[in-house]
Amino acid sequence: MILNIYVLIALGVLLPKGGTADAHNRKYVVCYQGTWATYRQSNGKYDVNYIDPFLCTHLVYTFFGIEESGELRVIDPTLDLEENGGHGNIRKFNALKLQNPTLKTIAAVGGWNEGSRNFSIVANDPERRQRFVRSAVQFIQRHGFNGLDLDWEYPNQRHDLTFDDKNNFVTLLRELKEGFKPFQYLLTAAVGASPATASISYNITEISKYLDIINVMAYDIHGAWDPATGINAPFYASKNDITEGSRQLNLDAIIKYWLAQGAPREKLVVGVPFYGRTFTLADAAQHSVGSSSLGPGTAGQYSLEPGSIGYNELCERMRTEQWQVEWDEVQLAPYAYMGQQWVSFDNPRSIGLKAQYAKDNNLGGVMVWSLESDDFRGICGGEKYPLLQTINRILFDGRTATGLTQSVLNMAAESIQRPVAPGYAVAPVVGSHTPQQGIVLDPRDGGVCTSQDNGYVRDKHDCGKFYYCNQGMAHSFNCPHNLKFDLESTTCNYPQSVDC
Ligand SMILES: *[C@@H]1O[C@H](CO)[C@@H](O)[C@H](O)[C@H]1NC(C)=O
Ligand SMILES: *[C@@H]1O[C@H](CO)[C@@H](O)[C@H](O)[C@H]1NC(C)=O
Repeated sequence: MILNIYVLIALGVLLPKGGTADAHNRKYVVCYQGTWATYRQSNGKYDVNYIDPFLCTHLVYTFFGIEESGELRVIDPTLDLEENGGHGNIRKFNALKLQNPTLKTIAAVGGWNEGSRNFSIVANDPERRQRFVRSAVQFIQRHGFNGLDLDWEYPNQRHDLTFDDKNNFVTLLRELKEGFKPFQYLLTAAVGASPATASISYNITEISKYLDIINVMAYDIHGAWDPATGINAPFYASKNDITEGSRQLNLDAIIKYWLAQGAPREKLVVGVPFYGRTFTLADAAQHSVGSSSLGPGTAGQYSLEPGSIGYNELCERMRTEQWQVEWDEVQLAPYAYMGQQWVSFDNPRSIGLKAQYAKDNNLGGVMVWSLESDDFRGICGGEKYPLLQTINRILFDGRTATGLTQSVLNMAAESIQRPVAPGYAVAPVVGSHTPQQGIVLDPRDGGVCTSQDNGYVRDKHDCGKFYYCNQGMAHSFNCPHNLKFDLESTTCNYPQSVDC
């Protein structure tokens, strides 16, 4: 796989015609991966090795948890880690940077299932916040990510505590940003989008100071929780949206609100859904937008959750089932129905319009939720990732690669030629601030870890060097340029702050 890509690069197949890409034209394509999709059956199964590392600028690994104490928590160690026969998905995910060294990888903490309570507790307490910052830095450093994505859903919502989440969230972001500074790690967040929810949760001006990217989740606007059918991710308000509140529930109004509240354009990234929201019609003959609904539609054949369906699942079913597809001319999105089943979804046309909107308005780019629900096998139209490809074509003027320059391609060639033995911890070396995570040493070579040691040990001669000991095995790391390893915080830090 790696070699094939290298050969393609060498042959110029992946090179944008006309040479190097212009940096100022750079847009973000932020791709979330729901890592649990590896447990799906048949065509629904999605693994790290299906990811095309040239179709995204940022890949986000979901999800990690947060303890009340502030420690970051690995939720599925067997999937994420390598110890005890685990699948090592984190390592494989970060190794995608060997193929595309411009790629950034980000670890996401939170998500819907993680709830809001632990975030609220941590954000309210200085010691817990500091523990979270330290835990995040260590985690990013140890695994070779480029940053952290906070998916707190949502501050001041979904818990019964009375803390000042809105301001505490600002403080948490400020302290994370400060802690990430020596390493230039990215700090991003996925945010509740509509003015009604955002105004409860965020001080937009303040959070914008600390976030590098703001992923605006402009979807889940309508779903099976509503009494009538509606569009999941509308572009504009419909004629049925007569109240002031409902006229705010669409992409255009959401982006205008975030801009008006002080979010910088270039940080705002338009979130688009690669899934639809499903309903069961009360009456199969009443199938327009706004028709009476009994509740969720039947579950997708792979994702198995009533009320939603991946684009991959829907387009596969449409090949054999008699769905009637319509286009809403005002909200600029398709919907479809068959008997009592009704679905609002996004297709290449609606996704393309949203990507064009991001481009025309000089926004940061497009975020997708999520990779495993695109038609990643190319079952429906022949092309793999039709939705993600559409975004790339629009943002990058028809190029497939996300703007690679010649120097970067040389780096790629170098890193690819480096031998990589199976089982070795490998973090791609991208820029001077990425810790150079090297080889797993045999303990007999260095003897840095005793068999009892678990955790971090600093090199006896070089303060910029440290080891992560795991049952006697030493994983060797170098701090980024000029930084020293601090035994107290067990992270790399500025030399003047480290006792060396
Ligand atoms: C919250 O923190 C507690 C205590 O650390 C932990 O047991 C729990 O799993 C965390 N997450 C959730 C969703 O409660
Ligand atoms: C956001 O925080 C700043 C600084 O604390 C404050 O001046 C401003 O009024 C806040 N804005 C909102 C909308 O709460």
